Amino acid sequence: MDGGRFEGRVAVVTGAASGLGRDTAIGLARQGARVVLFDRDRSGLDATAQHCGTAICIQGDVTDAASLARLAEAAAAIGPLTLLATAAGVIGATKPLTALEEEEWDRLFDINTKGTWLTLRALLPLMLGAGGGGIVTFASAAGLTGSPSLPAYSASKAAVVMMSRSLALTHARDGIRINCVCPGSIETPMLEEVFAVTGSAEARAAREAEFLQRHPLGRFGKPADVTAAVLFLLSDEAAFITGVALPVDGGRLA
Ligand SMILES: NC(=O)c1ccc[n+]([C@@H]2O[C@H](COP(=O)([O-])OP(=O)(O)OC[C@H]3O[C@@H](n4cnc5c(N)ncnc54)[C@H](O)[C@@H]3O)[C@@H](O)[C@H]2O)c1
Repeated sequence: MDGGRFEGRVAVVTGAASGLGRDTAIGLARQGARVVLFDRDRSGLDATAQHCGTAICIQGDVTDAASLARLAEAAAAIGPLTLLATAAGVIGATKPLTALEEEEWDRLFDINTKGTWLTLRALLPLMLGAGGGGIVTFASAAGLTGSPSLPAYSASKAAVVMMSRSLALTHARDGIRINCVCPGSIETPMLEEVFAVTGSAEARAAREAEFLQRHPLGRFGKPADVTAAVLFLLSDEAAFITGVALPVDGGRLA
């Protein structure tokens, strides 16, 4: 690890087995943090850990308070927790709202919204005990504007935005800054899942083109585009920034 902005600090990253959570964890570790990685995917966690020095991996589910309690215990054991990124999330079914099954709605809200809340509830006391810190939650550009193809996902992420902003106000005087990133379409396994469900090559190409035209910068994002924003918001350079929902979306919301 090459040292840097987070030297010696303890960081928890959920959703660390893949995509944006993995890239965030690697970025934090490269800049000196001691990372605790959480995900339900054990082999993915191990793969991330290989790039993170002496990472601790906790396999668990963000919808399960008991596994989050194990995560909190593991983080507390290595030092004061001052950094948290909550990237665990799912895209869910790409259907109109009226075609969505009740279980599909519940699953999205259980993981994206309740899972973020349970994670914050489990880990905030550690950060309060540490005397402060930085938190970045993962919402979506679709949490700031309507999304015809992903209405329930959009709603689940809008809730994450408001939870984060409210929490930022609650804990401003505790030295805890809470911000939210709102990515556009970023090249990760999740985006691949969105494109893959369409079936035929033509349908896939059409969906890719539809998503691409929403991004004025003319490309999809890379995980590094989001990680740069997350690390900035977690760092002391963002000491006077709390309660923002920052689009990292190639201009989609301009
Ligand atoms: N990729 C995008 O275009 C995009 C855009 C906007 C927002 N986001 C958000 O960014 C975050 C990361 O997305 P990604 O693209 O890296 O997705 P990804 O599918 O590559 O990674 C998500 C990770 O979350 C984990 N996870 C899912 N449900 C879990 C659960 N119940 N408990 C524990 N871990 C769980 C998965 O195992 C996986 O490792 C998500 O919250 C997503 O909604 C992504």
